[in-house]
Amino acid sequence: MSKKLWSLALALTVSGAALAFPTKPITIVVPFAAGGPTDTVARQLAEAMRKHLDNATIVIDNAAGAGGTIGANKVARAPADGHTLLVWHIGMAASPALYRKLPFKPLEDFEYLGIINDVPMTLVGKPQLPANTYRDFENYIRANQGKLNLGHAGLGSASHICGLMWQYAVKLDKSMATIAYRGTAPAMNDLIAGTIDVMCDQTTNTTQQIEAGRIKAFAVTTAKPLSDHPLLKHYPTLQEMGLKDFNLTIWHGLYAPKGTPAPVLQKLNQALRAALKDPAFIKKQAELGALVASERDKRVTPEGHKAFVAAEIAKLKAVIDAAGQYAD
Ligand code: MLT
Repeated sequence: MSKKLWSLALALTVSGAALAFPTKPITIVVPFAAGGPTDTVARQLAEAMRKHLDNATIVIDNAAGAGGTIGANKVARAPADGHTLLVWHIGMAASPALYRKLPFKPLEDFEYLGIINDVPMTLVGKPQLPANTYRDFENYIRANQGKLNLGHAGLGSASHICGLMWQYAVKLDKSMATIAYRGTAPAMNDLIAGTIDVMCDQTTNTTQQIEAGRIKAFAVTTAKPLSDHPLLKHYPTLQEMGLKDFNLTIWHGLYAPKGTPAPVLQKLNQALRAALKDPAFIKKQAELGALVASERDKRVTPEGHKAFVAAEIAKLKAVIDAAGQYAD
């Protein structure tokens, strides 16, 4: 084949025109139970990405357990052909500080495809909780230490990290009893039923429940009030409530197994970035209080995503080391 033809063939392959991908349904592993915040992000993202992946079928696999590390490990060990992906959040950065025997290395065992969004958290309580303001809430927890329980989705989950950060910030003498679930969807059922007392959960899972009056909300965890959201704007930030520097949003990223071919990674990153510009996806996320990453956000590039997670690993290690006594 002439040199000219070779370079054309190479260009076509790299450009993706001749790229044979996807060649079968794509599986997105969600490392928590169906119906929770991570599942919601993954399903909405899959819908927005499909049209940029030759309308491939995208299947969600809820592989829950151990704070998300079981599902993450499943992807780290999956064939590196681009047909098995992972949607996960700050757990990717928190788990090294919480699991002595983590079965994967966050910065070595995955290809980084880009950050998806940033999601605020809300401090919420069961409907019977005798509190209607954040001040009442904090005073009630203080007055009943050792008697109340907090639900979360396992060590290193967003709800777990938020719970330990809040307990540390208010300097409880005794850490709350915690109940771990396979995700905050099942935990939410128990909060609504009054089986658990409190939770710190993402707005993607709490907004509709707060709106329906099924749970009580007391504060948001972001540094700034959620002034753009018709419901969440009514809740103070924890900084406004005196918890200096409290600032927590839950980012979600998209990952493939290490070794996935570069042209496949490029096509997946292009499909992700196209989805992040999809007005329907942006709107659905905003209705739940979530902010989709913008094209100007350097975290939507593989390099920017990986550098961000590396920094978050160090940041969350410091948080967990400081608040260790509340980490279960
Ligand atoms: C978490 O707390 O990490 C998530 O809310 C878990 C989930 O998505 O269910």
